[in-house]
Amino acid sequence: RTVYVNGEYLPETEAKVSIFDRGFLMADGVYEVTTVLDGKLIDFDGHAKRLARSLNELEMKHPVTEEELLAIHRKLVEVNEVEEGLVYLQVTRGAADRDFAYPKDAEPTLVLFTQKKQAVNSPAAKTGISVISLPDIRWGRRDIKTVQLLYPSMGKMAAKAQGADDAWLVEDGFVTEGTSNNAYIVKDGVIITRNLGNEILHGITRAAVLRFAAEAQIKIEERPFTIEEAKAADEAFVTSATTFVLPVTKIDGEAVGTGQVGPIAARLREIYLEESR
Ligand code: PDD
Repeated sequence: RTVYVNGEYLPETEAKVSIFDRGFLMADGVYEVTTVLDGKLIDFDGHAKRLARSLNELEMKHPVTEEELLAIHRKLVEVNEVEEGLVYLQVTRGAADRDFAYPKDAEPTLVLFTQKKQAVNSPAAKTGISVISLPDIRWGRRDIKTVQLLYPSMGKMAAKAQGADDAWLVEDGFVTEGTSNNAYIVKDGVIITRNLGNEILHGITRAAVLRFAAEAQIKIEERPFTIEEAKAADEAFVTSATTFVLPVTKIDGEAVGTGQVGPIAARLREIYLEESR
């Protein structure tokens, strides 16, 4: 694979980042994952805008302009011949002597690489996934897409240890989101999903799916919901750039609705794939 590091396109084996990089030492970095379908980027604009916001919130320099970023994405997709997969992008504050205070002179590190992955024809989309609930003990600024992903990673492992696929995180009795996706339930034809705030990542897929749902005259309530409400719902699903709309058919071992993929989740997945590619 060819990867991008600070202005250079290199074979992945030759790409280097300093051991003093604050991304490595302090998780002082942010990222984006943009999906590629039919060799084209999905929702690049949304990801670029959210990246800019993450950088601003952390007072980090913008390493390149949005136009340059798009050109880098396109070049990597082209040279690596990605038809279906993703582009991963990471910006860290850069390399400096270890210090809790932000260094004044560090130049940000920009890294991008591609991954080929089948996403449209995923078996999970047909069967639905199972989730377990776990306490959400992440930090309070989940609206910033930082590379502090250890707890989500532990959550995924806890789910797998219980024979489940993923975890929904719960804070003060209410579901915030999945380990790496936004969470939804459907009751009596109404989609319910957590309102935006510092408690969740403002998913780019979430924004698109809610827009498509509204266009399809499906009612939406943006508010917190409990795990009990989710277990008693007719349907549940998650969204993310890499999974699109993915039905959830089991929560903590209990079937959601019929235990099969629900009609609204199935329809939204179809609409999303149709409209965004
Ligand atoms: N994760 N919530 C969290 C905590 C996430 O990590 C993600 C994305 C989302 C969905 O956001 P979007 O629709 O913009 O992808 C919600 C990416 C895919 C990842 O970490 O791989």
